[in-house]
Amino acid sequence: MTKAPQEKAAALASNIRALADAILEQNPMHRSFLTAALANITPDELSHLERYLDFCRQRGLTIDYLAECYLTIVGDTLREQIYFQKHKKYRYSSFAEVADNVYFNDEYMSFYMYGLAITSFLWPNHLALFRFFRDMLPRDKKGAYLEIGPGHGYFLLTAMERSAYTSFKGVDISETSIAQTRALLEHFGGGKKSFELTCMDFLACDLPENGFDAIVMGEVLEHVEEPERFLRQIARLAKKDAHIFVTTCINAPAVDHIYLFRTPEQIEKLFADCGLKIKSQLIRPYEGKTLEESLQQLLAINVAYVLERK
Ligand SMILES: C[S@@+](CC[C@H](N)C(=O)[O-])C[C@H]1O[C@@H](n2cnc3c(N)ncnc32)[C@H](O)[C@@H]1O
Repeated sequence: MTKAPQEKAAALASNIRALADAILEQNPMHRSFLTAALANITPDELSHLERYLDFCRQRGLTIDYLAECYLTIVGDTLREQIYFQKHKKYRYSSFAEVADNVYFNDEYMSFYMYGLAITSFLWPNHLALFRFFRDMLPRDKKGAYLEIGPGHGYFLLTAMERSAYTSFKGVDISETSIAQTRALLEHFGGGKKSFELTCMDFLACDLPENGFDAIVMGEVLEHVEEPERFLRQIARLAKKDAHIFVTTCINAPAVDHIYLFRTPEQIEKLFADCGLKIKSQLIRPYEGKTLEESLQQLLAINVAYVLERK
């Protein structure tokens, strides 16, 4: 039986309660969004968020800092949405324009990645992607798992905890992301399964062709100038029956989104051109809108795909 929102709120663990209070103290306008968000999370997901916050606190981060991380993403996204509605394009279109302010700026990137981990639980669109990832992940397949752009590391940790893959590799261009992922995996997964993290541009990596049984790339395609090169590289590195999982977004501005996808069809054609076939998909329109309305009104749509090599 699902709990009434009040009962659920009363049962909130202490870190989540403190985070919600800190967010509302810094931004009282966020109340109705946050109330709806907390009502949307299952008790199991709440316990995962609680343990994530606990991990952060053990790293010496305060709840006020984490609230600030989260609200930085909320504020930055709102500002970019206003720009996007006015200009019908993302503010930046090249990696060079965003790299120093985002990926190579430790202070900002730390904010961004802790904040993004929290949105994975609190934003209904991000939570839908995370659930799809978790539910589609094969539970009994063995072999090598590769993740491109693990960022905060929570997807990679989930794969280590829920799947039977035997080795785990993460590649990320940002030192800050690599450090956050490493700390998370060492905290929760250390010693149980082997993992290797490399700070590098995925396109510059020398990885074995046909070498991976699973390849995951969450929220990276919209951050790069030539998404087709990433997809071709994935198709080259994947074994014939590998589990391939990719998420991206459409009309979804953010400080570092540089490649604008305008329709799901555009993304799906790109997969086909790059030697990838769709096995299942999640198309998540803007909250409260249909797909058609979201497309017409240029509102953010999130998409996730399970793919295989053609
Ligand atoms: C928005 S975060 C996504 C984090 C996580 N995968 C998720 O879905 O929530 C994007 C990550 O991709 C990394 N990234 C961007 N360009 C990259 C590249 N060329 N090679 C490897 N990583 C890259 C960034 O540093 C960042 O950690």
